[in-house]
Amino acid sequence: MNEEIRILAIESSCDETAAAVVLNGREVLSNIIFSQIELHKLYGGVVPEIASRKHIEKINQVIEEALAAAHMPLQEMDAVAVTYGPGLVGPLLVGVSAAKAICFATGIPLIGVHHIEGHINANYIENRDLEPPFVALVVSGGHTHLVLVKDYGIYEIIGRTRDDAAGEAFDKVARAIGLGYPGGPKIDRLSKEGNPEAIHFPRARVAEAAYDFSFSGLKSSVLNYINGCERKGEPVNRADVAASFQKAVIDVLVEHALDAVEAYGFDRFAIAGGVASNSSLRSAFDSACRERNITFYHPSPVYCTDNAAMIGTAAYYEYLQGKRSGLDLNAVPNLKLGER
Ligand code: KG4
Ligand code: ZN
Repeated sequence: MNEEIRILAIESSCDETAAAVVLNGREVLSNIIFSQIELHKLYGGVVPEIASRKHIEKINQVIEEALAAAHMPLQEMDAVAVTYGPGLVGPLLVGVSAAKAICFATGIPLIGVHHIEGHINANYIENRDLEPPFVALVVSGGHTHLVLVKDYGIYEIIGRTRDDAAGEAFDKVARAIGLGYPGGPKIDRLSKEGNPEAIHFPRARVAEAAYDFSFSGLKSSVLNYINGCERKGEPVNRADVAASFQKAVIDVLVEHALDAVEAYGFDRFAIAGGVASNSSLRSAFDSACRERNITFYHPSPVYCTDNAAMIGTAAYYEYLQGKRSGLDLNAVPNLKLGER
């Protein structure tokens, strides 16, 4: 195909206001992210109402910066892509409304994108050789999904968390040991000073669902351990707790995900989502994949956490398949993967 397709993508499902310009699906011409983390830190987590207000304040500026950094006027865009779910309804509505307004004013086609599909598609940006089919593990603040990527835009979820998402567990444990929000990167850093074998935390299995996950028992076990130390007047070694907790999460993710890759007869595996930027998780998957002769793919950390480039990549494959959204597109906070 000789035609060049340029997509302006917008992401505002949680606490990042982001816009990007993506050429032919895999070439990122600009990727602007305004993170609201500093704002929400005060409250120990994302406050939806504050996030919505900040998105409104920032969205036009972020879109203009994305076009300017790509050296392209809006008129040269072939489509405008936007995350319309899942996520927080107020924040989603800001991105969806901005995208619809641009499309209404210019006549440029609109493409609504599933946020998790975006995370998975982030793998295409830097891995030019990666094509479906493969297995993807999506580990973010809101989701823990094991997904068969059968073709572009065709997914089957084969495992999911029964309770907390992996990122949620990181954030809750970080709060318990006084690290603050967001916990993932802080646990990642502190773990390097701790012993992952120091404390044995449970590795949960879900009966008769080999590829499902459960992290709430692990979180309780960490809290019990900390309370136990306090009762006995013993000091809590926070680095050991962080490293041992992190190891328990990673062990379960690696075992379940790679067992699924083999059981379903795949030889390629990709990780996605904010937790996929965890350095120990990346090296654990790297060595386990080598042992099992599975090719391992992962996005750079900036494409693991929320960004709009991944939304532009996902939208490109939808665009090629002729999929377009109407100007009646709405935010769908609990949108299921595969639904349109
Ligand atoms: O994908 P993401 O940016 O937003 C959602 O779609 O949820 O993921 C955010 C989650 C948070 O829970 C954060 O603590 C976690 O990803 N996270 C990490 C790391 N960086 C971000 N978890 C573990 N290690 C990290 N380095
Ligand atoms: Zn996300």
